[in-house]
Amino acid sequence: MRMLSFAARHKSLCAVTEAFYAASNKPVEVFGLKFPNPVGLAAGMDKFAVALPIWECLGFGFVELGGVTCHAQPGNDKPRMFRAVDDRALINRMGFNNPGADAMAKTLAHWKSSGHWPKHPVGMNLGKSKITPLDKAAEDYATSFRLLRDYADFFVVNVSSPNTPNLRQLQDKSALDEILVELQKLNSERKPILVKIAPDLSFEAIDEILELAIQRQLAGIVATNTTITRPQSSNPVYGQAGGLSGTPLRERSTDIIRHIRKQTVGKLPIIGVGGIFNADDAREKLEAGASLLQIYTGLVYEGPAIVKTIVAGLR
Ligand SMILES: Cc1cc2nc3c(=O)[nH]c(=O)nc-3n(C[C@H](O)[C@H](O)[C@H](O)COP(=O)(O)O)c2cc1C
Repeated sequence: MRMLSFAARHKSLCAVTEAFYAASNKPVEVFGLKFPNPVGLAAGMDKFAVALPIWECLGFGFVELGGVTCHAQPGNDKPRMFRAVDDRALINRMGFNNPGADAMAKTLAHWKSSGHWPKHPVGMNLGKSKITPLDKAAEDYATSFRLLRDYADFFVVNVSSPNTPNLRQLQDKSALDEILVELQKLNSERKPILVKIAPDLSFEAIDEILELAIQRQLAGIVATNTTITRPQSSNPVYGQAGGLSGTPLRERSTDIIRHIRKQTVGKLPIIGVGGIFNADDAREKLEAGASLLQIYTGLVYEGPAIVKTIVAGLR
């Protein structure tokens, strides 16, 4: 991230990066936004928006910045991210380390005024501050949204990170509804708002969220966040607390996408994320019903050519 953020600030380095890694065009239009290709950067990689302009040079068709919370916070003690190399997986318990919504807005204002703003859509992942009690969550999300609404093209309400105590309780219908009502009240420009769900929810719980999504005119669902389940394995890294991503998540995430598509008869756009490493994995998610895709762990293991390779494979 340090190198990418350095390159991001120098147009010549962006151009060199682009010469190696730019992806071909494979345009899609989803919830009113035009994407040069369907492969995006998942939330959690550029939590501070320090490298915003570099992602399009690496071929990404969109990015989701953050997660950002209302208050700045350091996240959990290190070490807080682990590799299960044999399984091409990560476990993380970052705990929403981020600069806070106000500082994030200033960083984005800087990227805009310096002429470095990317051409693709930019999304913003919103989380709840650790110090904010659950019954004040709606206010916390609303404050972040108010500070950031002019700087992103779409917003993702993250109620599914396993690393903020009790956050996932906000996936309950009434708690989530309170948040969505507050955000839509502030959403005078009708920017797309999505909810990101955990892969550990039952299909019944997902159905409740889908009902709410329709009722509150959400633009879509991001499926899925990391899982707290672990594969059968003697690898001691699986004893680490946190959310698991990468290959072990792939099938569950695809099953959830398929379920959402079936329940909504394909009417609610889905961003599919979880264990995408190559064009076959990408196609699996698209065939299950995703309109857009996101990658985190795949970038870690496959390296910077992953988007170019996947888009070429899809074409
Ligand atoms: C280190 C790390 C930090 C993450 N931070 C966030 C976050 O802040 N907000 C969020 O919604 N998801 C976050 N995620 C989850 C990813 O966006 C993605 O949903 C998950 O990793 C599954 O995709 P993958 O298998 O391609 O990694 C994070 C994942 C990792 C590995």
